Amino acid sequence: MQKVAVIGAGQMGSGIAQVVAQHGIDVVLSDVELSVAEQARAGIDASLGRLVGKGKLEIADAEAALARIAPVADYAPMVEADLIIEAATEREEIKQAIFEKAGKVLSQGAVMASNTSSIPITRMANYSPDPERFIGLHFFNPVPVMKLIEVIPGLATSDETTQRTVAFAEALGKEVVLSQDEPGFVVNRILLPMINEAVFVLGQGTAGIEDIDKGARLGLNHPMGPLELADFVGLDTCLDIIRVLYKTTRDTKYRPAPLLVKYVEAGWLGRKTGKGFYDYSGEVPVATR
Ligand code: 3HC
Repeated sequence: MQKVAVIGAGQMGSGIAQVVAQHGIDVVLSDVELSVAEQARAGIDASLGRLVGKGKLEIADAEAALARIAPVADYAPMVEADLIIEAATEREEIKQAIFEKAGKVLSQGAVMASNTSSIPITRMANYSPDPERFIGLHFFNPVPVMKLIEVIPGLATSDETTQRTVAFAEALGKEVVLSQDEPGFVVNRILLPMINEAVFVLGQGTAGIEDIDKGARLGLNHPMGPLELADFVGLDTCLDIIRVLYKTTRDTKYRPAPLLVKYVEAGWLGRKTGKGFYDYSGEVPVATR
């Protein structure tokens, strides 16, 4: 791979762009507004700077990585990309519009991938010009730190596309888990019921926020408790994923915890809004219940 396009310059898109650029590949980082893509590049600059500060990256390598990232607000520059990765908002209609536009510039032989956490790959492949060259490529947050990538071939994805995508993920220094195209794939299928159950435990008054998280941190050796992690992922995203699991399987074990719905309805979406299960406005996060 010589050039990769990343569509969506939010937290995930920025992380993906950083890692790709650090591995010597040119990146076109796009968002609807150029200023958003430019801001994301500035954020990557700061993130690379922290690595330099810790002595984990040479200044010259950080500069070279940054120079490989071109912020854009249109699709034309993606014509040269060997791989287009969609990392936009988890709404199917938004992704559909992106695949249709990007499909017009997708070059012969290039692969189109989605970083979706829950929408079926097989269905979204139909929004692209060639379902054989469409695949799921699911990164984890924070992308520069997390070692895993899930690769999810849809029903029509060719073996060649899967092999090229796995090779790309491994070239980024990540480990790969191959998943069938089933709701939640592997990791979110396990994670989201855990987070949802933690919210039931909270709602039933079994324990408070801090003790639930402490239980998972100290009793399970998880780096973050489920409610901290929910805040980190975004409570709206968590609710979207658990709802997809519930709707597609109709299994009541996936019914969303009423308190999770309430937090989302309050606009308490976690770190990104400054408040979720914890309030992040002070020096240290404080539990909201
Ligand atoms: N970008 C780059 N590096 C980062 C980072 C970021 N956003 N956040 C943290 N780091 C680095 C730090 O620089 C530090 O590096 P060092 O060890 O070399 O100094 C290292 O990660 C540890 O960070 P901190 O010391 O600041 O803090 P912690 O030790 O508490 O670790 C954490 C932070 C890595 C986020 C850790 O708490 C963790 O692993 N949490 C769980 C994350 C997780 O489960 N992610 C998956 C979410 S699910 C998902 O993404 C799927 C989606 O579809 C929902």
